[in-house]
Amino acid sequence: MKTEIVKIDPARPEPEKMEYCGAVIRYGGLVAFPTETVYGLGANAFDAKSVGNIFEAKGRPGDNPLIVHVANYETALRAGRFSSEHQQELFYALGARFWPGPLTMIIHRKDIVPYRVTCGLETVGIRMPANKVARELILRAGVPIAAPSANLSGRPSPTRASHVIEDMKGRVDVIIDGGDCEVGVESTVVDLCGTEPVVLRPGFVTKEDIARVAGQCGEFDWRFNEGAVDRPPSPGMKYRHYAPGAEMILYEGNADDVAGTIRHRISEEKSLGKRVGVLATQEHICYYKDADAVLSLGPAKDGAEHARALFDSLRQFDARGVDVIFAESTGCEGVDDAVMNRMFRAAGGKTEKAFG
Ligand code: TXA
Ligand code: MG
Repeated sequence: MKTEIVKIDPARPEPEKMEYCGAVIRYGGLVAFPTETVYGLGANAFDAKSVGNIFEAKGRPGDNPLIVHVANYETALRAGRFSSEHQQELFYALGARFWPGPLTMIIHRKDIVPYRVTCGLETVGIRMPANKVARELILRAGVPIAAPSANLSGRPSPTRASHVIEDMKGRVDVIIDGGDCEVGVESTVVDLCGTEPVVLRPGFVTKEDIARVAGQCGEFDWRFNEGAVDRPPSPGMKYRHYAPGAEMILYEGNADDVAGTIRHRISEEKSLGKRVGVLATQEHICYYKDADAVLSLGPAKDGAEHARALFDSLRQFDARGVDVIFAESTGCEGVDDAVMNRMFRAAGGKTEKAFG
């Protein structure tokens, strides 16, 4: 398949280009587009056949449902419905605070949404992105857009157009190059189908943020290993995910112990002839001079910067051909909960306690 790459100004999306890309979606094509979180791979959410092509292009498991992207509430309610007044109130209260933005809300599905989107579930995840190109694309398409992240299944999510081109060129109709994603990790997925909202996937909007609006908020514990949970509430959570080619190990403990342990592990692996990568806070970069590639997640306390840097760093390790990556844990405060969740999955659940 020939893939067209369309460069669009993220600040002022050119109307003719947006109209063209919207038409590609409307008529059944696949368009990769920027959002504030990560790049998405979009198709007409009401067209089961086009949606099926997304799974094909990504090599995505058939039981992992897609998020439906909308530009306004009217379109959101073409796809979703409320099963209670309570759910409706939560939806509008959270929407008023966090939309447009990096929050996906799970409500009940309307029949017009094909099961191909929800993978047979009676619920649907809906998100109103803030990114201008994304919004314009949805409006021009005239339909809600079903879109997972625009990476090959299992690989780190794309936060730059170059990442999308790497994974998707030749597999989709259009790739929009609309600059870098400012958030860097995928949206928070919150389930509104129970008595209290429950975060199924942490993201930039934290469970504390949600609790401030909703009064309370639960969280699905994502620290399980593959195979340990049969049916996680959010099917996407069970796969090794976001993963670089190299083996990755996440080190937890106090900052000094982590640095000491990783230094020790670097020399062990180097003596075996392995190429070693380290992912560390900016403050710790200087400890790892013996590694083959050391990348910074940003200052220790800056969760938003960790989120922005993570996926690009994982791809850079691949480009540098390292065999193993040692990553410092960031802790789980605020946005770092999302960062740790992605690192945990990228490591396939491999964490080790640093020794003192
Ligand atoms: O920021 C984002 O959310 C990006 C951009 C493109 O919007 N999209 C994204 O999509 O991350 P994807 O497909 O990579 O992740 C969707 C997540 C999966 O974990 C999936 O299992 C969950 O949302 N999900 C979708 N619909 C669901 C539903 N009805 N019930 C439970 N989980 C659902
Ligand atoms: Mg994804």
